[in-house]
Amino acid sequence: MMSEALQKAREFEAQYSPHIPAAERPAFHVTPAIGWMNDPNGFSIYKGEYHLFHQYHPYSNEWGPMHWAHLKSRDLITWERLPAALAPDRDYDAAGCFSGGAVELPDGRQLLLYTGVQRGHTPEGYIQDIQTQCAAIGDGVDYEKCLDNPVLEANDLPEGGSAIDFRDPKIWRGDDGVYYAVIGNRTEDGSGSILLYRSTDGLKWELERMLDRCNNQYGKMWECPDFFPLNGKLVLITSPQDMTPVGLEFHAGNGAMCLIGDYDPAGKGFSRQFVQAIDYGLDFYAPQTLLTEDGRRVMIAWMQNWATVGAKPYHCRWFGQMTLPRELAVKDGRLYQNPVRELEAYRGQCIIHRNIPVSAEVNLPGVQGRILDMTVTVRPMGGEMYRWFRIRVAKDGEHETIIRYRPSDGTVKIDRTRSGLPHDIVHTRSFLVGYHEGEIKLRIILDRFSIEVFVNDGEQAASSVIYTRQEADVISFEAGGPVLIDVEKYDLIFAG
Ligand code: FRU
Repeated sequence: MMSEALQKAREFEAQYSPHIPAAERPAFHVTPAIGWMNDPNGFSIYKGEYHLFHQYHPYSNEWGPMHWAHLKSRDLITWERLPAALAPDRDYDAAGCFSGGAVELPDGRQLLLYTGVQRGHTPEGYIQDIQTQCAAIGDGVDYEKCLDNPVLEANDLPEGGSAIDFRDPKIWRGDDGVYYAVIGNRTEDGSGSILLYRSTDGLKWELERMLDRCNNQYGKMWECPDFFPLNGKLVLITSPQDMTPVGLEFHAGNGAMCLIGDYDPAGKGFSRQFVQAIDYGLDFYAPQTLLTEDGRRVMIAWMQNWATVGAKPYHCRWFGQMTLPRELAVKDGRLYQNPVRELEAYRGQCIIHRNIPVSAEVNLPGVQGRILDMTVTVRPMGGEMYRWFRIRVAKDGEHETIIRYRPSDGTVKIDRTRSGLPHDIVHTRSFLVGYHEGEIKLRIILDRFSIEVFVNDGEQAASSVIYTRQEADVISFEAGGPVLIDVEKYDLIFAG
């Protein structure tokens, strides 16, 4: 039986989503049908198709009682909307169906594991949430919450674990046929940890171990974990709250972080070796991954940051975008990210310029637009090292977003100060890139309301939303000192 709350959400989105013209949305980045979106949830394969759920508040463009929205896709680029999957309609999730994961069961049904939030109060009367993990099972469209909910609660926590911050289960089925889930938790020192649970049926869970903990070093609470093997290493992903910067590696606030390591000597746990930020732009949080049938580890994230969610276009009817899904690899202790290769099927006309000398600002014939995939390679010219190189995109007389590389200190900076956002929020971010004799390769993916930059074949990625008007479609190149550049630009073509 569908609850009234879910029925109401489904009717609401069916009625109002069609009022938003396609041109007011990104061409190929996921947005909510209507209202607010945050974290990706349940990013997984079900019956041979990719499924993506997300945190969802249909009734306004602000965060509110969390529902789960639902989409599916055959190629990770074009998505079909399905009706909302979950609404906060039980005692144990009345304050929200928070983030979680999904898995296909051997009997062909789909299991969703999510955090149910109940609102309580401290003895002093402060609001205090209780978070438990809950299950719902369905056929890929309709889901029934399990009678045994919650399936994981306070007494399943290790000693000192917090029942207030216990959330975001990511579930998968191991090669041994056992289900595993990683869940974020807060320990007795006030900072985060990632717990690993196991289950033979996805409903009865037991704690396997704590995989890693923050010890007040990388932010505080660790949200939205994921855990997987990749290229001979183990990767533990989490999104810490309350981070403080460490050089250019982490920025203040909510960040997304990747811990790369090995199995511990006993062969089961995780032993951390490398730590890095995942994305160095302004908008990236709560990533989740899946394993494709051809063995690629693909990640998607919420292309937004909690610190800047107040900065939205006036009266927008949808708010929040996902990143483009990215293929991951680990090389030399670093996480590499590149756009999923499925994007290439949407490439239209190609414009190529080779060995173009650049110093004063120039435009190149055929190189403009807002929905495109462009790779720019920059080389020093004539033995002299240039001081800086700039690409301006989404530009007109008043607007621009700048990507700047400076070989002397090895930094790339993304700057959307003049992208048209009328809010006094953070607009620039700089990050270190590898030094390759002054040569740099920048792949830039533009959609109507975002820019994603992939540096040197995925060594670094930087994502940012830009709400610049669409008429601003000029792209220019400029260098402080002589450079030669190659540009390969494809329009991306989508129906509708
Ligand atoms: C991360 C997060 C999760 C939580 C969800 C609530 O962005 O805070 O920890 O489950 O958002 O919407």
